[in-house]
Amino acid sequence: MKKAELFIDKHFRTGEVDKRIYGSFIEHLGRAVYGGIYQPGGPEADENGFRGDVIRLIQELNVPVVRYPGGNFVSGYHWEDGVGPKDQRPKKVDLAWSVIEDNQFGLNEFMDWAKKAGTSPMMAVNLGTRGAEDAKNLLEYCNLPGGSYYSDLRAAHGYKDPHNIKLWCLGNEMDGEWQMGHKEADDYGKLAAETGRLMRMLDPGIELVACGSSHAQMETYGSWEYTVLDKCYDVVDYLSMHQYYNNHANNTPDFLANSLSMDRFIREVVAICDAVKAKKHSNKSIYLSFDEWNVWYHSAEADKKIERWVRAPHQLEDVYNFEDALLVGSLLITLLRHADRVKIACLAQLVNVIAPIMTSDTSAWKQTIYYPFAYTSNWGRGDVLETKVACPTYESKFGDAPYLDAVWVMDEENRKLSLFAVNKSLDEDMEISCDLRQFENCRAVEQVILTHDDMKAVNTEENPAAVAPQKVEPTQPVDGKLTMTLPKHTWTAVHYTF
Ligand code: AHR
Repeated sequence: MKKAELFIDKHFRTGEVDKRIYGSFIEHLGRAVYGGIYQPGGPEADENGFRGDVIRLIQELNVPVVRYPGGNFVSGYHWEDGVGPKDQRPKKVDLAWSVIEDNQFGLNEFMDWAKKAGTSPMMAVNLGTRGAEDAKNLLEYCNLPGGSYYSDLRAAHGYKDPHNIKLWCLGNEMDGEWQMGHKEADDYGKLAAETGRLMRMLDPGIELVACGSSHAQMETYGSWEYTVLDKCYDVVDYLSMHQYYNNHANNTPDFLANSLSMDRFIREVVAICDAVKAKKHSNKSIYLSFDEWNVWYHSAEADKKIERWVRAPHQLEDVYNFEDALLVGSLLITLLRHADRVKIACLAQLVNVIAPIMTSDTSAWKQTIYYPFAYTSNWGRGDVLETKVACPTYESKFGDAPYLDAVWVMDEENRKLSLFAVNKSLDEDMEISCDLRQFENCRAVEQVILTHDDMKAVNTEENPAAVAPQKVEPTQPVDGKLTMTLPKHTWTAVHYTF
C-alpha cells in the first residue's frame, strides 16, 4: 500500500474559489445547440424548444457561466443573422466547421436559455473577420437600455430590457493559423486594446478576456502572451488559456500525469502576466480565464468522415471513458490549487460536443466526466486551503508525477470542508493521512468514490450508469486525525462539517 500525507492550516489559504471556474461552453458546433440544448418539437422541448432533460442535468452540474457562441465559429459569425424573426434569418456557411448554420438559435434565444438553465453568459465577439465597430454594436444591442439604433433594435425584437452581459471574450484563439482572421501577436494585441477601449466607452462595467495561446505547444506560446499583454494590459482583465488532453499513445500513467502539465502551463502564464506587470510598473494583476479545457481525441477518426455543408452533424462527439473521468477530476483539483489566479474556467464543452452530457433525440445521459465535475462544482466552494502533498511519484513524460492529486476547500461561513483526491496508481491502494485538529468536531458527512475495473469503460444511452460514483461509509477522523484508504485508480470526494 502506498502512503501519503496532506498538510493544511486553515489560516493558509490559496484564495477564494471564484465560482466561475465551474463554467462551461456552448459553441455553434455539431449538436451542441441544435439537438443538444435546442430541439423544437422534441419530447422534452418547452415552448421555446429548450430541452428540459438537458437543462435538468446542467442544473445538477451547477454551472455558473457558459461561454457562447464560439470557439472557432465566432471568428466568422455575424450576430445580426441570429436575431429578429426566425423566418427571415439567413442560412450561412460556417467555414470553421464546414457546416450550414441556419441561425434558428441566436443571441436572444441563448439569453432566454441561460436564464432557464440558471447560468450566466460569457459572450465572445468576432475579431476574426470583423473588428472593433461590430463588437461595439453587439455590446450596444445587448447592454444599452434604449434610445440608440441597436438597443432599439433589441427592443423591436421583443427584448425591451437590456441583457446586461458583463463578461466578454475579445475573439477566440487568434494565434491559430486555422482561425478565420488569424493574426500576429502584435496586430491582435492592438486590436484587442482598441476593441476593448471602444467597448468600455460604451459600458465601463464590463470585464474583458484577451486571447492567450491556443495551447502550450504552439510555437508562439510565451511570446504571444507577452506581446499581446504588452499592447492591451491596461484594457483587459483576464488572459485566456486553452488546452485539450489526449491518450492517443494509450499510456494511462502518462495520460493521468497531464495534471502536472496543466499546473506547469498555469505557472508559466502567471509568470508572463507578472513579467508584463513589472515591465509596466503596474499595480494591476491580470487573472486567468482557462476557458477551454477537457479531454479531446476519441472522435478524431469519426470526424474525418463527416460530410461537408450539412446542418448539425455528429461532430466532436467524444465518448468518455473511466480514465478520462480520473483526469478531469485531477484537472479540477489543479484549477482549484491555482484559485489565486484562475478566476474563470470553462469545461469545453457542455452538451454532445466533447461534453459531460450526451443526447439522442429521446434521451440525455451523463458521461463519465460528468461526475467529478458535478461534485467539485457543488462541494468545491469557499476558500482553497494550501494543500501540501507528500507522496510517492512516478516517472512520466512530464517529469516526476505525484501518485496523488489532492486539495482541501473550506467554506468557513457554513462550517464545511471538502477533500478532492485522485489516486493515480493503477495497482496499489493508498493510505492518506491529514491532521484536522484545527477543525473542531470535524465529521465526515458524505464520501463518494468513482472507480471501475476497466479504465476504458464508458456510459452509453443503453447503459448510462456503467461508470457512476458510489457512496461509501465516510471515514471519520479519530481524535482530529484522518487516516483513510484511497483504492487504486479512484477519484474521491469527501464532505465534512466542523
Ligand atoms: O472546443 C472546440 C474548439 O477547440 C473550439 O472551437 C476552438 O476554440 C478550439 O480549438
